[in-house]
Amino acid sequence: MGGFTLTKKQKFLAGVVCSLIVLELISIAHYVTREHDSSPMGIFNSALRILAFLTTILLLLKFLLPDWEPHRKWLGCLLGAVFTISILQGIRSIFAQSAGLLASQESIRLIMLLLGLVFGALLSSHFQLLRGIIRNKNTEKTAGIITAILLGLTTLSTMMNMIYAIWQSRNPILIQIGAAKPFSIGDFLSFNQLLLYIYQIGYTILFFAWPVLSRPILEKENTFMQITFEKNLNPKQKPADQSALGFGVYFTDHMFLMTYDDGEGWHDPRIVPYGPIALDPAAMCLHYGQEVFEGLKAYCGADGKIRLFRPAENMARLNLSNGRLCIPPIDEAFAVHAVEELVKVDRDWIPTQDGASLYIRPFIFATDPFVGVRPSRQYIFAVILSPVGAYYASGLNPVKIFVEEKYVRAVKGGLGFTKAAANYASSLRAQQEAQAKGFSQVLWLDGVERKYIEEVGTMNVFFAINDEIITPALQGSILGGITRKSCIEILRAWDYNVTERPLALEEVVAAAKSGALKEAFGSGTAAVVSPIGELACGGETLSINNGEIGAISQRLYDELTGIQWGKLADPYGWTKVIA
Ligand SMILES: Cc1ncc(COP(=O)(O)O)c(C=O)c1O
Repeated sequence: MGGFTLTKKQKFLAGVVCSLIVLELISIAHYVTREHDSSPMGIFNSALRILAFLTTILLLLKFLLPDWEPHRKWLGCLLGAVFTISILQGIRSIFAQSAGLLASQESIRLIMLLLGLVFGALLSSHFQLLRGIIRNKNTEKTAGIITAILLGLTTLSTMMNMIYAIWQSRNPILIQIGAAKPFSIGDFLSFNQLLLYIYQIGYTILFFAWPVLSRPILEKENTFMQITFEKNLNPKQKPADQSALGFGVYFTDHMFLMTYDDGEGWHDPRIVPYGPIALDPAAMCLHYGQEVFEGLKAYCGADGKIRLFRPAENMARLNLSNGRLCIPPIDEAFAVHAVEELVKVDRDWIPTQDGASLYIRPFIFATDPFVGVRPSRQYIFAVILSPVGAYYASGLNPVKIFVEEKYVRAVKGGLGFTKAAANYASSLRAQQEAQAKGFSQVLWLDGVERKYIEEVGTMNVFFAINDEIITPALQGSILGGITRKSCIEILRAWDYNVTERPLALEEVVAAAKSGALKEAFGSGTAAVVSPIGELACGGETLSINNGEIGAISQRLYDELTGIQWGKLADPYGWTKVIA
């Protein structure tokens, strides 16, 4: 989707790589033609250099054409092999140097080889495979600066080496005038050795950190498909009382739609007046439930700015759901862009009252008119918006939870980790029965042993037991909540001991009885943080923190809502100001 153009940074880097390639080519030509060494080590070195040179060119191509995928596996193997050999070569060079075995020219060649290889490896967007391990923007900035410095040093050193190599290449004029040594080789080599060590350490670190570093540099400049716009000429009356908005009752004037066909892929993105969507009665979503969705919010801050909270995470999760339900993937960046455009169109609908926000519901459903069980060949991706009231009208409010031992929400291998409509259909009965008994949500246990805690209603769950804050590990049956992820990151930044591990109900019950259970809370986009005041479990009622809000829940709630509404600084770079 969309074309591909180079950003200024990319053009600059491409220029640097091209210059290095030219230098490398001159150096290889010089080495092969004038210093040809027919010993096994000489042949090995020549082969390695040519390989490295080819790799650099491949990497440049990969850099310029990041969507070029067929070579993915073998380029990775090639790079891995070349990089390993270059490190071994470097080590050999250091030992040989100290043993006085290598001629100065050889050591220079090795330095250049190493720098060329590592620099090439550094440019590989291939290593973005590890991307997403750290997504802290500050880390990226720092790493970007380090990269720039090291790139500068590399270029400088390579050029110096080249000049030195040419100078040393029995320059006829120098030989004639008898000035073979322009300056002390010893000084030069030790300076280069020093650089070599710095680079080796620096680049080894960079090599492994590259997934993070490359993101801001290699990220595609987005030239998205054009979204067509049809204005709603009959806008609705906006709800007058923002304190009575409730959740998911009102919808704005426009919606985003995009269509998928097997032949055309995703196409025809459009913002149109909000209204019914015509469906063939045989549309597959109506029969086999091939539907996935997401949920996020737009917040109008006190500063008047409109912010989204980690929207890219929602779109990544949407693709995770898509994958499980055989729905073709969407372009995540484009989906975020579509949400932004839609929110901007309907920005007057964003509530301004404290705690109120605009709920965003992206969803994809199968539209193929076919009543047979197979993945649909046609889909609609839609986004609708709903102004919603504050979840807590008067501050955080602890809830009563019923431990569900009869029904299960999901099992490993099933759909639990996705936001598939089917999961919510299967949860309704338990929720209805718990509500009839006076509870607000159910605590879901694992579907096999009914032993381990999974989620609470449509939220993830955390328990503070002694000095440990535990949240069930994501093992396939639990939805990876974006609020859960954010809570974990914030708590760790605050130096809490947060663990993601299987948590047995009996451990929580025992902790509640012994007083080790300090507090418990759910986490999700709707409530942000929802303290649990009471757990009803097998006829017993356990009070948690005397039914009061815990200090951790309150602090987390204040931090997250502060970031979302722009009242607090956003050190994590989670919010995206869109207007
Ligand atoms: C089943 C389930 N678990 C957890 C969550 C919390 O996820 P998030 O924090 O991304 O809203 C949700 C809400 O979307 C949910 O439906």
